[in-house]
Parts: sequence; structure tokens; C-alpha cells
Amino acid sequence: MSTDHHAGLEDIEVLESSICEITQDGLTFRGYNITELAANSTFEEVACLLWNDQLPSQKELAEFRRELAGEYALPREITEHINHVPREAHPMAVLRTLISSLGLYDAEAADNTGPAMHRKSVRLLAKIPAIVAAIARHGNAKSHVESNGELSLAGNFLYCLNGKTPDAETERLLDTTLILYAEHELNASTFAARITAATQADTYSCVVAAVSALQGNLHGGANQRATEMLLTIGDAANVPEYIDARLKKKETIMGFGHRVYKNGDPRVPVLKALCQSLSEKKNEKKIFETAIAVEAEMLKRKRLHANVDYYSGLAFYLLGLSAEIYTCIFAMARAAGYLAHIAEQLEENKLIRPRGVYTGKRGLVYKPLASR
Ligand SMILES: CC(C)(COP(=O)(O)OP(=O)(O)OC[C@H]1O[C@@H](n2cnc3c(N)ncnc32)[C@H](O)[C@@H]1OP(=O)(O)O)[C@@H](O)C(=O)NCCC(=O)NCCS
Repeated sequence: MSTDHHAGLEDIEVLESSICEITQDGLTFRGYNITELAANSTFEEVACLLWNDQLPSQKELAEFRRELAGEYALPREITEHINHVPREAHPMAVLRTLISSLGLYDAEAADNTGPAMHRKSVRLLAKIPAIVAAIARHGNAKSHVESNGELSLAGNFLYCLNGKTPDAETERLLDTTLILYAEHELNASTFAARITAATQADTYSCVVAAVSALQGNLHGGANQRATEMLLTIGDAANVPEYIDARLKKKETIMGFGHRVYKNGDPRVPVLKALCQSLSEKKNEKKIFETAIAVEAEMLKRKRLHANVDYYSGLAFYLLGLSAEIYTCIFAMARAAGYLAHIAEQLEENKLIRPRGVYTGKRGLVYKPLASR
């Protein structure tokens, strides 16, 4: 096997972008530190920042919120479609399908010019949370709840999910996780979106490509798996034996390791603090202590740090959300980043088409079917 190629494109810089910077010391969106954004801004503000390259004024933010709220409602065809999907289908598979369906009801789907791109981006960002909530309710045999335009994007998601207005603290905590998930440079799903955008495909196809890549366990699927693992372990005392058994079988421990961050993920301290205070408030200390014990064990055994999915999964659990929709929540936040990257790709487009190193046979002589 040739080694003269870049397996997994590791450390390869393939394009220029002004959206997000990742260093070993931190993460910035359009020049603003993520920790500061998580503490002070809202998801809507961050989406504006990512799309417009600057923080919005109060007036601009109010207008953006109005635009979003005006697009929360789902087309009737989509709510009917949800009623017909198998209840046991994984929510990410349903989300992928429904984003594709949504494109069928958007007359501007194939219009990649600036104003249409903005309107489509608003539509997707506004409707994905309502779709995720509707999928979750359908899975639990509950009827659809119409959006509430008075609420923020995070608030409307919780409203559509639970059928009641969330308290301000729950809404704010979910909003913080959405900010942290909103964007992350050329991760696999964003790269999939840009590859698709570079072919001049329509926006819905780009987001479907992204969400398809996101669902895998090595990417967005890790938040569900990591939380399920913590629930399986059950108690901090079980951690050494559990981790030892899995590592001996050379299994991957979900929520650990990262392609870029080798000294820890800058989103983790914010999420960990959030999980700690939530676990105390909700009297769920056991799962938090288990999480801390797994983190310590992985550092000791493998020198691997927890990543964003490890503690965001736990945060969602502590917010009372069920594990099957964690990756969908990741998707509804990262849609902000996907749409910023799709627009940036189209601004100065070049088809993304790398080469492969051929390792197959050569020079074979074709034998007619009848003589094989
Ligand atoms: C994120 C991830 C895909 C990065 O992969 P990568 O940069 O290609 O790194 P590798 O998979 O080559 O890992 C390097 C080494 O660490 C080990 N490793 C990495 N993550 C591991 C994990 N979560 N559990 C156990 N071992 C792990 C690998 O087995 C490998 O060991 P080896 O050199 O002995 O073969 C990988 O760390 C992983 O699978 N993590 C779990 C899934 C996850 O949490 N994904 C969300 C990412 S934000």
C-alpha cells in the first residue's frame, strides 16, 4: 500500500475560509472567541455573525428573529410525510429524508443567487428544529405541535417537542449548546456540504449531504452513543473495568479523541461546567460522576481528551431530552455553519475533486462473458 498520499486528508488545507478558526488553544467564529459567544450571545446572533461576517445591531437581530419566526411553520406536506415514516426509524435518517422533501416545496430551491440563498438559509434554519421536534413526537406516537413565533429558535424547538413553553433557564442552556455546535470549520459534514455546493447543486442537496455525513458514529452520532455508554456504565465505580474491557477489545470509546484538537476541545470546559451545575440542580450527580471518571480513565489509559459530543450529549440528557435525537440537535445547530460555508463556497467556487492513488490491477485482457 502506497503511503504517498494524505489518508483522511489529515492536516491538509484544501481551501481558504474566513468563517471559523481552530487552533490548539481555542476556537473563534469570525474572529470572536467561542467561550465569549457562549456566555454572552444567542444562537440567532451567532447565525447572523456566521452569515454576515459581523455581529448584528439590535435592529438587525430583531429583523432576523422576525424572519426566522415567519419561517418556523412546516408545509402541510411535510407534517403529513412525518406521519407516514416508520416510528422506529432513526431520527437522523428521517431528518435527512425530510430536508430533501422540504426542497421539493421551495420554489427557490435551485436559485443560488444571493437573496434567494438568504431566504433559503432562513427557511432551513427555522424549519429544521420544528422537523426534529415533529420527528421525536411521531416516534413517541404524539401528535404534531404547531410552532410558536413568539419564541426563540431554541425555545420554539422545546415548545414543539414538549407542547409547552420552556422555562427561561432550560431555553438558555439549550441555546448555549446550539452556539457551541453552530460551526466548526471543515469537519466531515461541512466539507460534504461544500463539495456538494461546489458542483452547483441546490442548497437542500448540500444540507442533505452534510446531514448524511453527520449521522455517523465518528462524527455527530457520537453524542448519542457517548450518553448511552454512560447510562450503561451506571456508576463511577464500574468505569475502570468497563473501559479496560472495551480497550482490550480495541473498541472505540465514543466522545473521545479528535482529528484536530490533541490537547483538549475548547468547547468542553463550557459544556462540562453546564453539566455539573445541571446535574446538581436535577439531582443527577451519579451520571456526572460517571462521566468524570470515564474522562479521567481515558486520559490515563490513552492520553485522549473528551470532545464536544461527550458533554453535549450529557447536557441534552440532563435537559431531559432522549438520546435518539441528540445528533438531530447537533444538525439543527450546525445548519448555521453549513449555510455559511455553502454561501462562501459559491462566492469563489472551484470544483472540489481530489485524486486517488490507484492500487488495483493493470493491463488485464477482457474475457467475453460466454467464456468465463
Ligand atoms: C474523532 C476520531 C474519529 C479522530 O480520528 P483520527 O484523527 O483519525 O484518529 P485515529 O482514529 O487514527 O486515532 C489515533 C489513535 O487513537 C486511538 N483512538 C482515537 N480515538 C479513540 C477513542 N475514542 N477510543 C479509543 N481509541 C481511540 C485510535 O485507535 C488510534 O490508536 P492507534 O494509533 O493505536 O491505532 C476518533 O478519535 C474517534 O473515533 N473518536 C470517537 C468518536 C467521536 O467521539 N467522534 C466525535 C468527534 S468530535
